[in-house]
Amino acid sequence: MTKILVTGALGQIGTELAGELAARYGKSSVLISDVRKPQSFAGELEFVGLDVTNPDAIGSIIAEHGITDIFHMAAILSASGEKNPALAYRVNSDGTFNILEEARKAGVRKVMIPSTIGVFGAETPRINTPDITVLRPTTMYGITKVNAELLALYYRDRYALDVRGLRFPGIISYLTPPSAGTTDYAVDIFYHAVQGKDYQCYLKKDTALPMMYMPDALHSLVKLFEAKGDKLRHCLEYNVSAYSFTPEEIYGEIREVYPEFRITYEPDFRQKIAETWPASLDSHFAREDWGFAPEYDLKHTVQDMIQNLRKILVHQ
Ligand SMILES: NC(=O)c1ccc[n+]([C@@H]2O[C@H](COP(=O)([O-])OP(=O)(O)OC[C@H]3O[C@@H](n4cnc5c(N)ncnc54)[C@H](O)[C@@H]3O)[C@@H](O)[C@H]2O)c1
Repeated sequence: MTKILVTGALGQIGTELAGELAARYGKSSVLISDVRKPQSFAGELEFVGLDVTNPDAIGSIIAEHGITDIFHMAAILSASGEKNPALAYRVNSDGTFNILEEARKAGVRKVMIPSTIGVFGAETPRINTPDITVLRPTTMYGITKVNAELLALYYRDRYALDVRGLRFPGIISYLTPPSAGTTDYAVDIFYHAVQGKDYQCYLKKDTALPMMYMPDALHSLVKLFEAKGDKLRHCLEYNVSAYSFTPEEIYGEIREVYPEFRITYEPDFRQKIAETWPASLDSHFAREDWGFAPEYDLKHTVQDMIQNLRKILVHQ
């Protein structure tokens, strides 16, 4: 019997991940949780309030619901983390420690923890960045995520806890708006284009970053979850991305559909963060070890985003 706890399940990725897991393993196999209360949750999945900074609450939920596996999605992302570094530290570092420790004590089978390109820093090679390289981030988000990667290795090696994860690039999606990351412009730009509004971008026009469309992000997580453990050479250090682009390049793709669409550039503090992140990633370990194979290229992502956002925004 499988019972998966998803933390941070009301976030950009958690919302869609919960639906994907329910479709795959059955609705009764998924328990969603978040520190926030759901406003309206269309997925009809069982919800429980959970603040991951509270270890006792995690332990009780694991015991009461017979949790076998955890997808730990609760986090404070890069831009929010710079506004409130102490909160980012508590949620990302203490929260991840609590999840690992409670999972170990309860004998949970597998813990999935997404990491991020935010673990890299200005001294990391920016092009085709390898999995194992210099990790000296300058944001609190990046620092706490390096901590999470090292904690995961510690729990795997010291306690044989099966901890798995991957380093997501910017994730493009239309269902749940992103919270406050540095790559969010790649989602906001679509909302503006589809609503017929001009867009002011907070990054410079030539800032290339790696990205991926949500369906590929979800399939990657599930694929890694189901992969044979003896094939995995890494713990959370799997780089994954489908493509890289600059704001000017995605603007060009969107203008193929909306020729009237206009963009201006007004870089803010997020430009500095983006400049310390890779422009492209080497994902060969993920491909070889667990079959990472994204299906959406940039053109298909743009077409699908626009089609779906048109449907959603028309009904609002
Ligand atoms: N979205 C991206 O582009 C992206 C890129 C790289 C990595 N990631 C990683 O993927 C994971 C999920 O990211 P996301 O984009 O869904 O983030 P998000 O900010 O959209 O969602 C995070 C969720 O965590 C919840 N949360 C915050 N504090 C909490 C606490 N104390 N206890 C419980 N829940 C709490 C929030 O309410 C929110 O619903 C994170 O680990 C993030 O680092 C995301």
